[in-house]
Amino acid sequence: MQTVSDAPAILVRDLRKAYGSTEALQGIDFEVARGEVFGLLGPNGAGKTTTVEILEGYRERSGGIVSVLDMDPGQRPIQLRRRVGIVLQSSGMYRHLTVREAVEHWAALYPDPRDVDETVALAGLEDKADQRTRRLSGGQLRRLDFALALVGDPELVFLDEPTTGFDPAARRSAWETVRRLQALGKTVLLTTHYLDEAQALCDRVAIVKDGRVLAVGAPAQLGVGGTSRYRVSWRDGAGELVAQETDDPTALLHRLTSAALARGEALADLSVTRPSLEDVYLELTAEEAR
Ligand SMILES: Nc1ncnc2c1ncn2[C@@H]1O[C@H](COP(=O)(O)OP(=O)(O)OP(=O)(O)O)[C@@H](O)[C@H]1O
Ligand SMILES: [Mg+2]
Repeated sequence: MQTVSDAPAILVRDLRKAYGSTEALQGIDFEVARGEVFGLLGPNGAGKTTTVEILEGYRERSGGIVSVLDMDPGQRPIQLRRRVGIVLQSSGMYRHLTVREAVEHWAALYPDPRDVDETVALAGLEDKADQRTRRLSGGQLRRLDFALALVGDPELVFLDEPTTGFDPAARRSAWETVRRLQALGKTVLLTTHYLDEAQALCDRVAIVKDGRVLAVGAPAQLGVGGTSRYRVSWRDGAGELVAQETDDPTALLHRLTSAALARGEALADLSVTRPSLEDVYLELTAEEAR
């Protein structure tokens, strides 16, 4: 049973974490609505795993407020453990068990788990169900992590780089699984370095760097209001693709098309596009480095 509540599934306010003198998190703020797929993006060392593991109750915070399904993960409430599923960035437990045994073992921690074989199949490991996990390839191990996150049929799933090391087909199938979770009304917090993945799956993303949130928004909206602009492109007389960036595509198009019409020419392949999430990400994370 899912709890019906208007409160966000996850609330993070001024979250801070120091490892000795390293301030890994310097005041992180975001919230994740129930039923939302939310992505944390950012360069290596940005603080994504630290944030996720504090929300999971695996690490202690140094300061700030966090609420996960209306509970404080810092108190390690058993209720929370039963209602969330977790893919850790690096696991490696269960080396001596078979895939099915590992999933069975994990399922036993949940009050109302999914069927074990169905979950193994969902992760694309049906051929490996009886194989010891230490014999799995890197991508297959990651699939096992995915199965472990889903077997409890949790209402909130944390996925820390869930598809790293997946082949393209496995990645697409993991995406389908995340979409199915979303269709079931589950909440998902994921981290990824694949911006196409974030764009394909996330309702909203936060871009994090050096323990701070640089931007939050829907992947397609992130550039709006920021420094990113529209890109207008077309082919010149020699057939070369030319591009120009602008804040005001209406005026630029008017100038370009009037001039072309006056010359009696057409602008081949004329298009107006938004910067991609990757453009925005690179712009934001590079800008801060200066
Ligand atoms: N257990 C730890 N002890 C000391 N420092 C740590 C520890 N874990 C993380 N850090 C430091 O905290 C910072 C954030 O690390 P974190 O693992 O959260 O980054 P991340 O965003 O998940 O990076 P990646 O994309 O590489 O997974 C880094 O500077 C890292 O060196
Ligand atoms: Mg990480």
